[in-house]
Amino acid sequence: MMYLAIDVYGTLVDTAGVTDQLAGLVGDRAPEFATAWRAKQLEYTFRRALMHDYADLPTCTRQALDHTCLTFGTDMAATDRDALMALYRRLPAFADAEPGLRALRDLPLRPFAFSNGNRDDLDHALEAAALAPLLAGVVSLNEARTFKPHPAAYAYFHRAAQTGGAETWLVSGNPFDVIGAVTSGMHAVWIKRSPTMVFDPIGVAPTAVVSSLIELTAMFRERMRVAK
Ligand code: LAC
Repeated sequence: MMYLAIDVYGTLVDTAGVTDQLAGLVGDRAPEFATAWRAKQLEYTFRRALMHDYADLPTCTRQALDHTCLTFGTDMAATDRDALMALYRRLPAFADAEPGLRALRDLPLRPFAFSNGNRDDLDHALEAAALAPLLAGVVSLNEARTFKPHPAAYAYFHRAAQTGGAETWLVSGNPFDVIGAVTSGMHAVWIKRSPTMVFDPIGVAPTAVVSSLIELTAMFRERMRVAK
């Protein structure tokens, strides 16, 4: 049996899903604001993992929002910030997420959601996107008190999903996550949804690249056929 660790934010659900709500607050700068907020959120997770000073993902997300408001010179009311945070719990799924996970069910593998998020938020987001029934389980790094791409994050996946040393693949739209997984000894497939997405040129390549979650099933089927 093969195991899949499927990333959530940026892979199953779209963090740019906050853009419409942001447009009412920052106008034309909404796409740029959403990108800066997400980048700062990830930076805070990296820094906290590196400093061994854990604070959970909602804390990093909220503090990143506060930082982004400061850099954009936006005087955003606390109630608007709270509403954006609430929206983070029901981000829209990517269009290929549901059909992609559904198609995977034809293969002998166990797909888990694997994320920096808190379990409660993940359960909520995956239920809202109707993805929960298609997964074997959810692995939340809040329970390991660290973040990707710390090696402890990927080691925790093996323990939590009880992979027992079986072949394990990370599935992620986030290059840093793919690189972290490969560096930690996993296989990893990068979901490159747009031809303009760039992979970090830091000397670690994905095991495979596909353009959507729907292509995953064909990719795994082919690899299993060749391996036979
Ligand atoms: C996650 C981050 C990487 O879901 O977005 O773990």
